[in-house]
Amino acid sequence: MSGPDVDKAAIAAAARLLEEGSLVALPTETVYGLGADAENPAAVARIYAAKGRPMDHPVIVHIAPGADLDHWATDIPHEARALADAFWPGPLTMILKRAAHIPDAVSGGQDTVGIRCPSHPVAIALLQAFKGGKGGVAAPSANKFGNVSPTTAQHVRDEFGADGTVAAILDGGQSQVGIESTIVDLSRLSTHGPVLLRPGHISADAIAAVIDSMPAAPDVAAPRASGTLESHYAPHTPVAMQDGDELLATLGKLQAAGRKVALIHYSAFPQAHAEVRLPSSPEGFAHALYAALRAMDQAGSDVILVEAPPRGGEWLGVNDRLRRAAHGSSGIVHGLLNHDAPT
Ligand code: TXA
Ligand code: MG
Repeated sequence: MSGPDVDKAAIAAAARLLEEGSLVALPTETVYGLGADAENPAAVARIYAAKGRPMDHPVIVHIAPGADLDHWATDIPHEARALADAFWPGPLTMILKRAAHIPDAVSGGQDTVGIRCPSHPVAIALLQAFKGGKGGVAAPSANKFGNVSPTTAQHVRDEFGADGTVAAILDGGQSQVGIESTIVDLSRLSTHGPVLLRPGHISADAIAAVIDSMPAAPDVAAPRASGTLESHYAPHTPVAMQDGDELLATLGKLQAAGRKVALIHYSAFPQAHAEVRLPSSPEGFAHALYAALRAMDQAGSDVILVEAPPRGGEWLGVNDRLRRAAHGSSGIVHGLLNHDAPT
């Protein structure tokens, strides 16, 4: 990955801010995170306050490459070490049993902890500088609760720039992957096997190839994951997702009815009030998706119409995020067509 230059002075200053208990926003290869010292409950509480996030939603702890997993977790299955060897640094979060001395502030009171070693060079430099590489940075996505995750430093400024709650925002360019990490629960491996809590760039097949066991879909007893709430990652403008042919017809009808449509598509389409055409590969689509949702949310449209991506396994993460973005908007197209447009 052609990474941005790492500004050593900015990293050192950010590490010091974290050590003092302040919040620092950091780039990762998935999305930007809002970081705090994972072992300082007051600092972690500041994350929840800044995001407006319920206290019982756990956050992910980010660690440096080669850091000691046993500091954070206990009863670590060999499968977890194999996955760390295969995919770290990278976009995989593992849920493990939490070590007794790790504050439960990071896990929303659950007896587990989510751990990930990110691959972004700026994130790695920060994690190596913070507490001499032995610390953990608790970091949910750097957005207000329920909003679309940020994939640029500007997105983070848009979320938190004005309110003074974030001491520093490190700029690492646009996040390469673009959607949040895959989360696999290994904390109940002996009784439930591996469980996929959130699909992402690293697929269930890729995980199964390493540990010889296919992660199952989450069950009701699975640890709570806020990224798994039905409505999440949502713009303020209603979102509707339709297959290409249906979308083409809908676009025509909405425009005939005087509605403003913001379009996110990957096939060729007629012009809309505002639009973004995304790459037709799952990686390219994921990379650009959140920036597109944010841009279309700013377009002053009645609805964001999204061309439904293919359904294949490679597209699982993208479809999951779009389904959540569209949740609660069902009936929006019908409503726009059946009520008078504002004059
Ligand atoms: O790619 C990512 O994972 C990004 C970057 C910043 O690393 N982070 C991220 O964090 O997406 P957040 O807080 O927006 O989502 C973290 C997800 C949530 O759904 C949370 O509930 C789940 O991870 N999680 C964290 N620790 C957990 C635990 N102990 N048990 C179950 N779920 C956990
Ligand atoms: Mg999030």
